[in-house]
Amino acid sequence: MPPSWSNLRADFPILHQQVHGKPLVYLDNAATAQKPRAVIDALVRYYERDNSNVHRGLHALSMRATDAYEGARARVAKFINAADPAEIIFTRGTTEGINIVSRSVAATLKPGDVILCTEMEHHSNLVPWQQAARASGATLRFLPVLGADAEGGLDLAALDTLLTPQVKVFAFTHISNTLGGINPVAELCRRARAVGALSVIDAAQSIGHGPFDVRAIGADYVAFSGHKMCGPTGIGVLYGHRALLDTLAPDETGGGMVVTVDYAGARWKPAPERFEAGTPNIADAIALAAACDYLDALGRDEIARHDQALAALAYEKLSALPGIRLIGPGRSGVRSGLVSFAFAEVHAHDVVTFADEDGIALRGGHHCNQPLMRKLGLTSTTRASFYVYNTEQEIDVLVASLHRILKFFATS
Ligand code: ALA
Repeated sequence: MPPSWSNLRADFPILHQQVHGKPLVYLDNAATAQKPRAVIDALVRYYERDNSNVHRGLHALSMRATDAYEGARARVAKFINAADPAEIIFTRGTTEGINIVSRSVAATLKPGDVILCTEMEHHSNLVPWQQAARASGATLRFLPVLGADAEGGLDLAALDTLLTPQVKVFAFTHISNTLGGINPVAELCRRARAVGALSVIDAAQSIGHGPFDVRAIGADYVAFSGHKMCGPTGIGVLYGHRALLDTLAPDETGGGMVVTVDYAGARWKPAPERFEAGTPNIADAIALAAACDYLDALGRDEIARHDQALAALAYEKLSALPGIRLIGPGRSGVRSGLVSFAFAEVHAHDVVTFADEDGIALRGGHHCNQPLMRKLGLTSTTRASFYVYNTEQEIDVLVASLHRILKFFATS
């Protein structure tokens, strides 16, 4: 850990507890990250002092709430280097963001058009595109992953044949939640742009784990969740390039997103209001801005270095376990802060249940990656995912626990 982080664990109240009589070792950060005191305080402060509806009221509390909510939008825009806060749409999370884009874009697609995804997509960046293809008659195609354990990442050479002018949308993840590999998103966006396709990035696993600059990446749309970056659950972001957002039809309609309404119809406001019908999630947006402050204060490059170094150490130590199969790339610089693995003789759910007895929180299952699992010949993996508060000592606790589990199953 960088020296300036030495007291960082004190910022996270939840970490200081025992689980089954053992100190909590929280290694399920790819599912959701823990919240620092600053984020919890931002939520409480809002409800204790400012709670009011936004954009509508003329009283002091409503104006304070509106300022804080729009301030949060500007803060998130800065966090990802968007050109304009109007490019930030608050959503419930990554899934909703992708659904907004896929449903709106589907209305512009026709038979003969192609939607390109990758074989490593989370269901949230796959099923919405299946639906878009069904609704529009477009064809869904997949960029393959390379290697028996997908250790080669995406088959970038296949883009030469797959990225044709018929491709209207190329949707891909930045970091696979199962494989842990980091995809070259700027290159993928550039390749999409070259054939006139829209690029849609699922940044759920990357946004809180390093620098993210939408303009440098050249993305058209980016979706992410607040809860994986120290923010609250129920709040996320859809970034869309301003010129594109105003061409999209709204996904949901109602109050707050209209300029004028008569009995015959309505006219939409521009983005972002056009995509935020109804009372928005004000409190959680404000707390998300506090999470942006928190992560920027730690340093986004430092976070990437820390998480990736822990994953590299875990990969190395886990490799020594008998019968383990590690999934995804082992090369440094390509693996993010998570490690997925499987044992031939022990089901992932057993690993997770036994590790829980040792106070360790892991995740086991298909990780919303069923087609990828089938391709890998697996039904599930166990996943350890790291964040800013995790330590090298916790990896030793994990390895000792896995030894205990393997011994138990070898002798039972
Ligand atoms: N998508 C989250 C995960 O990978 C829930 O665990």
